Amino acid sequence: MAATAPPTAILILAAGRGTRLRSRLPKVLHPVGGRTLLAHVLAAAAAAGFAPADTFVVAGYGAEPVQATLPPGVRLLVQSPQRGTGHALQVALPALDAYPQIIVLHGDMPLVSAATVTALWAALGAGAARGEIAAVLATAASAVPRAYGRILRSPHNPQHVVGIVEAAQATPEQLQIPELNAGFYAFRRAPLAAALSQLGANNPHGEFYLTDAIAILARSAAPGGATVRAYALPDPEEILGINDRRELAEVDRLLRRRQNLALMDQGVTIYFPETVAVDPAVTAGPDTVLEPGVHLRGQTRIGANCRIGAYSILTDCLLADDVVVLPHCVLEGARIGAAARVGPFTRLREQAEIAPGAHLGNFVEVKKSRVGAGAKAMHLAYLGDAQIGARVNIGAGAITCNFDGQRKHATVVGDDAFIGSNSTLVAPLTIAPDAYVGAGSVITDPVPPGALALGRGRQVNKPGWVAARKKKPRAGA
Ligand code: UD1
Ligand code: CA
Repeated sequence: MAATAPPTAILILAAGRGTRLRSRLPKVLHPVGGRTLLAHVLAAAAAAGFAPADTFVVAGYGAEPVQATLPPGVRLLVQSPQRGTGHALQVALPALDAYPQIIVLHGDMPLVSAATVTALWAALGAGAARGEIAAVLATAASAVPRAYGRILRSPHNPQHVVGIVEAAQATPEQLQIPELNAGFYAFRRAPLAAALSQLGANNPHGEFYLTDAIAILARSAAPGGATVRAYALPDPEEILGINDRRELAEVDRLLRRRQNLALMDQGVTIYFPETVAVDPAVTAGPDTVLEPGVHLRGQTRIGANCRIGAYSILTDCLLADDVVVLPHCVLEGARIGAAARVGPFTRLREQAEIAPGAHLGNFVEVKKSRVGAGAKAMHLAYLGDAQIGARVNIGAGAITCNFDGQRKHATVVGDDAFIGSNSTLVAPLTIAPDAYVGAGSVITDPVPPGALALGRGRQVNKPGWVAARKKKPRAGA
């Protein structure tokens, strides 16, 4: 859509260190709402219809880690050293030769929406065809005073933007201007290039400010021509950017809240939503309930009518319908079948597959294992590299010894087998269907179908032993 003629590039400024965050990590790689600042901005560009090949990221501080996170096709331009937002455009412009229009976004403004990108593009296009508009910039009023650029409008024609004054250089009167510069712009390339070549660095930081290009563009307007227009953001929250950790927390909270509201609209109940953190890719079906303190991370997908108990953390998990997760579970990379129950305090690790109707209880850990339909492991068990059949009962304290110090080995337990409490299953091991392992056994050999396996010392009772000991004279007495 937006990428039709004239060709338009998206340029995301992400070279700054983000000094105010006091971090070694480049600012745009800090996560909010479950993904990095830069990923949010890239997602908005993609959702507005821009192809990766038309999307450019200016990186500088930490350019390598930034590049490592870019989606295929998105191009990296390196700005080194970083001498300001205007300098970033000066550095980028030669690579954007093929584009008569350039949309500039800031990598530290993660709330930018696809609608805004499209609106800037459309507003520029409407006037650019008649040569009237050189630039459109997004603005919003903020009730909270922020260190953002203030928009200066022409006293003669308030439609015309005549400049942007940075907060640090604004007079007390200018600081009262409520209209702020978001840092989202659409430019026609030719006038922009001319304006950039005239930028100076006459400011306290000695930097080349992109915002100064606005006044230059406005000044070079033909009499009566409207060269720079403002686009008022319909959602003023989009102007919330991230310069320090306070703003990071503020925007994270806002994104989490939006995500929770979207889930609620899809029929998910969330209690104490301010304590529930759901990543952007997560889905959940209707009548699912999220209790307080739940975190749903990564690519987690939850079916309908599930209940996720308080303080459970699910990462990249797949849950069918009617699953119950009791409080305090930590589940990662697990698939859980319909109507299965896990928790409280269950730990599922990578490739744990829990079949429909299975029950796992407290302090049960499962890794790279399949637990069959209707099987139960209710207390204190470890199942690693195991195939547990249907309706198997795993007693309290039973464990697979899957690791011999060098390699991992598999344990197979057939359908309807019973594994007594505190059994030690030394892999590789096969326990056939309907077999029965006595409590406290150490099992090292295969168990045939229907057999009872006992692997333990026999109990010996010595009558009268206690009384006999009491009569003996004590050593040293
Ligand atoms: C900038 C604007 C300000 C606007 C605000 C909104 C300027 C001079 N000021 O201020 O008017 O209200 O954004 O968000 O533009 N960057 C580079 N190379 C550099 C410097 C910065 O790529 O040499 C990138 C940063 O990584 C960041 C973005 O540009 O993503 C903005 O830089 P930042 O230093 O945060 O500017 P602000 O002070 O927020
Ligand atoms: Ca900023």
